[in-house]
Amino acid sequence: ANMEYLDSHRPQIHFSPQEKWMNDPNGMVFYDGEYHLFYQYYPDSTVWGPMHWGHAVSEDMVHWEHLPIALYPDSLGWIFSGSAVYDEKNTSGLGEDGNGPLIAIFTYHNSEMEKAGRQDFQYQGIAYSNDRGRTWKKYAGNPVVPNTESIRDFRDPKVSWDAEREQWLMVFAAQNRMMFWSSPNLIDWTFESEFGQEFGSHGGVWECPDFFPASVEGEGITKWILIASINPGGPNGGSATQYFVGDWDGKTFTLDEDFRKEVTNEQAVWLDYGRDNYAGVTWSNIPETDGRRLFIGWMSNWQYARDVPTEAWRSAMTVARKLELHRLSSGYRIFSTPVKELKQLRTSENMLNGDVVSATMPLKAFIAPASAPITDRSKGTYELELEFTLLDKEKAGSFGVILHNSSGESYRVGYDPSEDEFFSDRTKSGDTSFSDKFADKITIAPRNADAETIRMQLVFDQASAELFADGGATVITDIFFPDQVFNQISLFSETENTVKLSAGKAYALKRIWD
Ligand code: FRU
Repeated sequence: ANMEYLDSHRPQIHFSPQEKWMNDPNGMVFYDGEYHLFYQYYPDSTVWGPMHWGHAVSEDMVHWEHLPIALYPDSLGWIFSGSAVYDEKNTSGLGEDGNGPLIAIFTYHNSEMEKAGRQDFQYQGIAYSNDRGRTWKKYAGNPVVPNTESIRDFRDPKVSWDAEREQWLMVFAAQNRMMFWSSPNLIDWTFESEFGQEFGSHGGVWECPDFFPASVEGEGITKWILIASINPGGPNGGSATQYFVGDWDGKTFTLDEDFRKEVTNEQAVWLDYGRDNYAGVTWSNIPETDGRRLFIGWMSNWQYARDVPTEAWRSAMTVARKLELHRLSSGYRIFSTPVKELKQLRTSENMLNGDVVSATMPLKAFIAPASAPITDRSKGTYELELEFTLLDKEKAGSFGVILHNSSGESYRVGYDPSEDEFFSDRTKSGDTSFSDKFADKITIAPRNADAETIRMQLVFDQASAELFADGGATVITDIFFPDQVFNQISLFSETENTVKLSAGKAYALKRIWD
């Protein structure tokens, strides 16, 4: 692999494995100044296979240090997705010298049992580390949650400390629903309840839950959020992540009455309306003094993840995001925005004030010339903060941002006032031949009706775009594979004199690997 991370399509501001196959983020825990990121990893190929947990750490969720593989398959099975916690009080007894261990909770996937036609081939196990996550031992009494009822698709445990009830809480996916279990010690688990069969989208199996309390911004009340990834069945095909807002009494999750209406009859509310943010969950053990709920997702889609045109490695993670719960006139919504730590990558700020947007307006100032050396990754790696005001709502056509290159390839993202929709168009974005599902334009109806101007924060990398619209109320994450880096960027409007950029800033971003 090219350890300079200069291979074509290689993300420059997103985490990607040095080489080989990666999918879901796993085991995210903050401990002793480090954000741990484990991930579904197959070290022998660039397509999915017997799963391990790859490992990286970061002090800022932006710059990453690769560490050796943390968990290998063993006689109980491959190591599927899961979570990690700091067992501060050593409830498990697996700590050393009076210190609490880090505990990883994961799914064993037993492919031999699966081949033999059994249904009980997935079950939950744990491993522990007493050296800041550097080495891990599997617990000798695994599995801690056997699959006694032979439920096919029984996986992806997310564990957290339920502070109010002083117990560990585990939520995992059981085919078409989520199960809640509790434990005093991370070893002995009791079934509490299940949720979801009659709510949300069920176009595929449920996977990779997360479950946490969130205070409603500006209201001083707390709600619980249940995140449920689903594949297939996403709003734009393939994989996507939905969520539910409700209350937790220590045993049962009850949907909020108003939110219930939005998730009946197969309706769903999605965390991200793009095609490439899957299986994302949040970090555990974030200090109370920080107080943020921090998220990262896998920036791909099972529809084509195995086929995308990268060579040494496959897949990247989204940028780390802060999640907040807001109550809008349309209901409870999670707002996602890039973590503030990402700002350290900004260079060469450009103010873009006051212009009426016309056909295509190149943002020349901070774009490196096509002849710039590839290490000058201001080519293709940008962040924009834009606020648009409509001058003529009746006449206004689509407007937004276009990335392009000298091969005539382009990617467009923006807003269409006539439909009241955001869109992401990768039909002409470069190589799309690897999947007949890839080249398309998606549109997203639900925008924050409470917002007066149209705000778009955009993060662009070599092979991805992330749109955080209306302050994070509507999010689109999409990947693409241009034959050459998108070294040109423009604002565009399909109609003249209809929309004004009331405020704007553009930054070239420094790459994270230097
Ligand atoms: C989600 C998922 C999980 C599973 C893992 C296997 O992308 O299917 O449900 O644990 O990937 O790699």
